[in-house]
Amino acid sequence: MPVHVIVGAQWGDEGKGRAVDVLARHYDYVARYNGGANAGHTVYLGNDPIKLHHVPSGVISGIPGILGNGMVIDLEILINEIHTLRSKGITPLLHISDRAHLTLPFHKEEDVLIDSLKAKYGMRTGTTRRGIGPTYQDKAARVSLRVGDLLHSERLDEKLRLLGDYHQKIIMALGGTFKEEWRSSVLKEKLMKQLNEIKSYIIDTVDFLNKALENGSFILAEGANGVHLDIDHGIAPYTTSSNTIAGAASTGLGIAPSNITEVYGVMKAYTTRVGDGPMPTELKNEVGKRIQMAGNEFGTTTGRPRRCGWLDLVLIRHSHLLNRFTRLIITKLDVLGGIEEIKVCNAYLHEEKGIITHVPSTLEELKQCIPQYITFDGWEALKPQEWKEICEQGYETLPKELRKYVEYIAKQCQVPIAFLTLGTDRGATIYVDLPTEIYH
Ligand code: GDP
Ligand code: IMO
Ligand code: MG
Repeated sequence: MPVHVIVGAQWGDEGKGRAVDVLARHYDYVARYNGGANAGHTVYLGNDPIKLHHVPSGVISGIPGILGNGMVIDLEILINEIHTLRSKGITPLLHISDRAHLTLPFHKEEDVLIDSLKAKYGMRTGTTRRGIGPTYQDKAARVSLRVGDLLHSERLDEKLRLLGDYHQKIIMALGGTFKEEWRSSVLKEKLMKQLNEIKSYIIDTVDFLNKALENGSFILAEGANGVHLDIDHGIAPYTTSSNTIAGAASTGLGIAPSNITEVYGVMKAYTTRVGDGPMPTELKNEVGKRIQMAGNEFGTTTGRPRRCGWLDLVLIRHSHLLNRFTRLIITKLDVLGGIEEIKVCNAYLHEEKGIITHVPSTLEELKQCIPQYITFDGWEALKPQEWKEICEQGYETLPKELRKYVEYIAKQCQVPIAFLTLGTDRGATIYVDLPTEIYH
């Protein structure tokens, strides 16, 4: 039975949480397959924004959430999330993979130290400082702590001693201070307290998910970050440390690729980016500022202002190539309301190669690219309630300029649109073409 994957087609914050919230009720489970506390997925419960870092966004609709083996989990942040949800009357049904890796306090310290060192050489990534890179580094170095290790006390002692020794050496070499509270005995006590809170959720999620699929369950895999932050496919060093593309749902959940029958690409109607790195369509002017304010473009995890720019279709088409989207979800179309002329980058002009329609693989090449734009007439700015009323009446009642804009995107990408969003509220959604199989 099928797995459908939701992937952010840009640099993160496309509205994946919002999109999952629309779709979740059609699925039996919603599962995260990559990343950890670097992700910040927002779902509005009435006027209340709920910001989720580990917990899959489907829990807001009462759908059980799975934290897959490909994730890196910060228990302190996860437990806070669970408490926040409970305080809002939501008791999340969760299953946490015993194979997922744990982010520990020294990973966060190292994240900052490494990025500061990189900054000296002009290569700062501008990470979320959530210890993501160092946790995945430990996974690759095979010194890491997995969730399942917490259940085996003797092994845990040995692993924590190894980790303490290893990270003390790294932190000191990087000029930092290794804190007493990170020593194995103190850390173990803290982890045991945290374990008490989550023990009942820990299972072999690979076995669980595969049995669920055999029994006919429908699974929605919720990607974190965005395609162009993928460790292999983003531009180094301006990436995160995991694979973010749809293919990673297979490794990060332990399900065969042939189970994936649908890939939703979520894209904002314009482009944003937090942290450092190239952004060809960035608008360092009044229009960029206007989009930032109208779209409330401030990081969900770090509060940093997001850089804003015109829609970059070269980026989106490259995402399509890596993910083979079966449907697009376009978010935040309301934010562009009131801008007289809206531009879309359709190709790059490369200094030596002329017009190119893919994203080059190196920073040096990308720096030589100048975005080529086509211009669209804008549509009027409406109040959230007015957009909701239009949404109730359907696609044909949208301003014609807006329809022209989204139809151009769909045509350029050759991908049908699943739905459009025109506000933070679930009601501000226009359904265009959802896969029929989800109405099982
Ligand atoms: P994610 O990381 O992809 O889940 O996205 P974030 O939650 O970090 O950022 C997206 C932000 O845009 C959130 O604050 C959403 O509530 C908001 N958002 C999503 N869709 C829309 C929309 O259609 N219109 C407006 N105005 N805001 C939206
Ligand atoms: P969601 O799931 C936006 C960015 C960081 C930084 C780079 C590396 O909410 O879309 P990391 O802490 O992962 O080592 O940071 O990646 N980044 C994100 N940007 N949304 C995210 O997640 C991101 N996750 C990581 O800003 O530039
Ligand atoms: Mg986000």
